Amino acid sequence: MKKAARITITGAAGQISYSLIFRIASGEFLGKDQPIILQLLEITPGINALSGVAIELSDCAFPLVKEIICTDNVDLAFQNSEYAFLVGARPRGPGMERKDLLQANAAIFSEQGKAINNSASKSIKVIVVGNPANTNALIALKNAPDIDPSQFTAMTRLDHNRAQSQVADKTGSPVSSVENIIIWGNHSATQYPDLHHTMIGEKSAFDMINNDWYKNELIPCVQQRGAEIIKARGASSAASAANAAINHMRDWALGTDNWVSMGVLSDGSYGVAKDIIYSFPCRCSNGRWDIIQDLALNDFSKEKMKDSERELLEEKEAIRELLEWIESPSKVSTLSGRGDAKHLENAWFDAVNALLR
Ligand code: NAD
Ligand code: LMR
Repeated sequence: MKKAARITITGAAGQISYSLIFRIASGEFLGKDQPIILQLLEITPGINALSGVAIELSDCAFPLVKEIICTDNVDLAFQNSEYAFLVGARPRGPGMERKDLLQANAAIFSEQGKAINNSASKSIKVIVVGNPANTNALIALKNAPDIDPSQFTAMTRLDHNRAQSQVADKTGSPVSSVENIIIWGNHSATQYPDLHHTMIGEKSAFDMINNDWYKNELIPCVQQRGAEIIKARGASSAASAANAAINHMRDWALGTDNWVSMGVLSDGSYGVAKDIIYSFPCRCSNGRWDIIQDLALNDFSKEKMKDSERELLEEKEAIRELLEWIESPSKVSTLSGRGDAKHLENAWFDAVNALLR
């Protein structure tokens, strides 16, 4: 019998988690032979609802689930954790962009980054789902200096899956025959779905689709798909987001021959600015991801990639002083006007508000 793997899920009483947790518990993440311990985090007002989720989990009698921990204590939630799904965050409503959530959600990812640093396994793999996912992942990793930054990723797999499905529909092909999709950049309206390397069976995608459909329908469709769902459902995507999070983490943990899109810390590949979380085409094996290198890029692709890079740099600029503050906490007094150690914890919230208001 394998040793149980510890999996943390934040926002565990929310709508994404309601799909995510049960699929993980059934073995769809790490496999049907891997026992698991679920470490479920909610804010205090969500604990009652979370206890209902735990009752239902218990009633499923999942053989792989060895223990369920429900808590509002962030350190306990990440204790020895090996895999973390950072879902808990405010979702956007109609008319909002995902980056409008930065102010509301930055503090969450700072606190959780710190807790991961202090309590989790040093080999933890983290996916950030909560929006704006790329910049939240950057905040979390900067708050976890003892964890290798490659262990923090942001989810763009939902965008990848959306593009794959649209291409399959348009060409009447099985979804599984559509390979080598790329999502570059931010999980936002500037993301760039790139089909220039996409194959459908033996054929290049552009042998089966035309440029006009690609540029004027596919790209805007994928960029705006989240908003389309919010308009239709009155709530943001949930089951498809949970599915994408499992795809991302499973491929990372267990490996895949397929190209996958992942938001990872840029090392400057393809001329993208370093030190932002940018979505690249990746290959996963032996528990690590690597950016696929040396792909040819035309001028259209380069321009689209730059647009998304620019937006991520703007988001980073909006939190620049906060990131500097992590490295130099003495700035707390300047930012918050309260220098005593007692207020260190709250100073982050003050700083976020002061800078992003
Ligand atoms: P939801 O409001 O249904 O659930 C969020 C849950 O998080 C709530 O139960 C809330 O109490 C909890 N929460 C809030 N702060 C927390 C904290 N500090 N610690 C632990 N839990 C906390 O929202 P949802 O629909 O599940 O969406 C969650 C996030 O995922 C949103 O930011 C949404 O925009 C984002 N999202 C991202 C993608 C993606 O592709 N990256 C896709 C869909 C949704
Ligand atoms: C999505 O892409 O569905 C999510 O990021 C939710 C949203 O706000 O669009």
